[in-house]
Amino acid sequence: MAELAQLDAEGLVVADVGCGSGRTVRALLAAGSGGPATGTGSSAERSTGVGWHAPAVVHALDHVSALDDDLLADPRVRSRIADLDARLPWDDGELDRVVSLNAAEHLADPVAHLAEVHRVLRPGGLCVLAHSDWDTALFTSTDDVLTRQLVDGFTAANPGPGPSDGFMGRKLLALAATGAERGAPWEVVTATSWADPHRRFDDGSLAWKVATGVLAAAQHDAALLARAAGWMEELRSLAAAGQFLFTVTDVAVVLRRA
Ligand SMILES: C[S@@+](CC[C@H](N)C(=O)[O-])C[C@H]1O[C@@H](n2cnc3c(N)ncnc32)[C@H](O)[C@@H]1O
Repeated sequence: MAELAQLDAEGLVVADVGCGSGRTVRALLAAGSGGPATGTGSSAERSTGVGWHAPAVVHALDHVSALDDDLLADPRVRSRIADLDARLPWDDGELDRVVSLNAAEHLADPVAHLAEVHRVLRPGGLCVLAHSDWDTALFTSTDDVLTRQLVDGFTAANPGPGPSDGFMGRKLLALAATGAERGAPWEVVTATSWADPHRRFDDGSLAWKVATGVLAAAQHDAALLARAAGWMEELRSLAAAGQFLFTVTDVAVVLRRA
């Protein structure tokens, strides 16, 4: 994440919007130390790298309070409880970097949000907009037809109280382009995508978490739910036998405020 955010100077002020428990905040603070202290080891986290500088301040914003206790206690971290569908709680040009990971799909108007990000960034400041594209979720299974049906159901489902979009990753560039029409022009610095391989399926693993969401999305259909429960058990067995693979395509665009 430090590499995507190009933390190329000391004293940078960064915001992670839609921070959740703070895995991105953690990765940012580890910049310059050779790698994140903890984390799932995804490409976005691994790209911390020596040569970058940990930010002086990381604002960690979410509309619920879920930040890990050690991050709350870190003097470099400022927890902000705010709504990303409203005006952001920073002055014009106050921030050097804004990072947003898997948050855009939940917003009522992601283009309006991006215009707000444009406002709070200083000229030349960077926005890292990253998203998993859930439609690309890949699970090894002996029943490919059922897997496709379940992933399609998961992609179409709206798990939370707000909106969601399982195709958001591939739309990030279009989102940025639309910003120009609302007075927030961006220069696209990079657009990258990757898919990390995950072979574990124990409780708490990324594959297990996504499969649990897949199961939840099948709740409305009792027959499908029963088959999905069997599908989950099979994934666990395949993983135990070393035959399991899970991936999902992640997309990241880096945008510069002119
Ligand atoms: C899928 S999680 C991603 C969390 C974190 N960025 C990560 O990748 O681990 C989406 C996050 O966006 C937050 N979120 C969703 N809608 C929001 C809103 N309107 N305002 C602020 N935060 C919001 C959720 O509370 C959640 O923490």
